Amino acid sequence: MRIVIRGGTVLSSTGAVDADVLVEGERVAALAVPGGLAESWLAGADRVIEAGGRYVLPGGVDAHTHMEMPFGGTESSDTFETGTRAAAWGGTTTIVDFAVQARGESLQSTLDKWRAKADGNCAVDYGFHLIVSDVNDATLKEMDACVAAGVTSFKMFMAYPGAFYVTDGEIVRAMDRAADNGALVMMHAENGIAIDELVARALAEGRADPVQHGLTRPPELEAEAVHRAVTLARVTRAPLYVVHLSSAPALDAVTAARDTGQNVFAETCPQYLYLSLDDLARPGFEGAKYVCSPPLRPVEHQAPLWRGLRTNDLSLVSTDHCPFCFAEQKELGRGDFSRIPNGLPGVEHRMDLIHQGVVAGELSLARWVEVTSTTPARMFGLYPRKGVIAPGADADIVVYDPTARQTLSASTHHMNVDYSVYEGMEITGRVETVLSRGRVVVDRGSYHGSPGHGRFLDRALCQYLN
Ligand code: URP
Ligand code: ZN
Ligand code: ZN
Ligand code: ZN
Repeated sequence: MRIVIRGGTVLSSTGAVDADVLVEGERVAALAVPGGLAESWLAGADRVIEAGGRYVLPGGVDAHTHMEMPFGGTESSDTFETGTRAAAWGGTTTIVDFAVQARGESLQSTLDKWRAKADGNCAVDYGFHLIVSDVNDATLKEMDACVAAGVTSFKMFMAYPGAFYVTDGEIVRAMDRAADNGALVMMHAENGIAIDELVARALAEGRADPVQHGLTRPPELEAEAVHRAVTLARVTRAPLYVVHLSSAPALDAVTAARDTGQNVFAETCPQYLYLSLDDLARPGFEGAKYVCSPPLRPVEHQAPLWRGLRTNDLSLVSTDHCPFCFAEQKELGRGDFSRIPNGLPGVEHRMDLIHQGVVAGELSLARWVEVTSTTPARMFGLYPRKGVIAPGADADIVVYDPTARQTLSASTHHMNVDYSVYEGMEITGRVETVLSRGRVVVDRGSYHGSPGHGRFLDRALCQYLN
């Protein structure tokens, strides 16, 4: 297949340039300035995509998703098939999901299990991080083999005692290993031990509504955990990546570490930029739709997060897509907020939602591309295959109409979940055409992808450090 994308404005993390793009097979073959397009491109093209008035940007890289993830006695409602299809609809052509180690399980069998779920089912390319919940000698040794096999990042939890929680000592051991083998340690930074006390107290006092989820996990207990993770990373000389950062004081802890020159990075998620504690406090059981961890914060945390995205103290935006249906799954926590499965749907809307930051003047066009595609590709060892439109790169390309209008709704989204946290939100801009490794998978409202087109990505080490 030879595809020419003609007349658009090609975006990258460094700016915008009017150019035509030639795709040959699965890769980008060439870019040409307008008028410089060789006639032979058009003569031999199987398809010409007219992109006048459109942005042409590298496909989104969502470095934090949870398809088919077991949590709280249920499983997130998007499979690798449905979740990657929704990702494609939204202009995300790469996901990095999390394989979850059960206690007593080896990392290799964990990976095998998650590969079995994903292989042959994904519409777009995918990689894995490993969630390490059983830090022992065997696990530590296996981390090296995982790095060699293209799984170069490991998430640990300072939250959820009795489930994923690991102790500070275990964190030190894993960080020490990462410092040696070049892996990136990802941290869910909330003080789970303190939180569990606040949760128990709330339930004992009969405070059981969804808003209590937010009130029992205050920003201070995120900031404390971030600071502790930063400290443990400093003494072990390991790089640190804080996932789903949600609050201003947690960001302050990241900024302070970065100002000393420490290799600390953080992501935030669209829900922390657009939703708030007010959503968790919606009447009845409605707030359950908004339960995720860390929780949604009071609105005044949003402006500092946008600022962090501008200053690069927040390196990138991931979704933490982890959907649970309202009807059967969020329902598990009616009468006890601590039993509401944690997580929100979002993989489909990240590109559009962060584009609203461009529309509102919060971010430049280049920064939009950088935080949604280029930086996640670099952070997780996928650049320049992903994250850029350049000769030799995978032809993962989004043609985006910046002036189209759309309204987000569960009635039109493609994620396998029965509600939208952005129901009714009006968006300026729309994904028009999406290429995944040279194949048109979404085209002006119709879907042409297929399960199994997406391939497993063997990732290099973090490219900010190696
Ligand atoms: O609430 C969330 N974030 N659910 C997904 C699991 C995690 O901690 O990332
Ligand atoms: Zn060491
Ligand atoms: Zn987490
Ligand atoms: Zn997550």
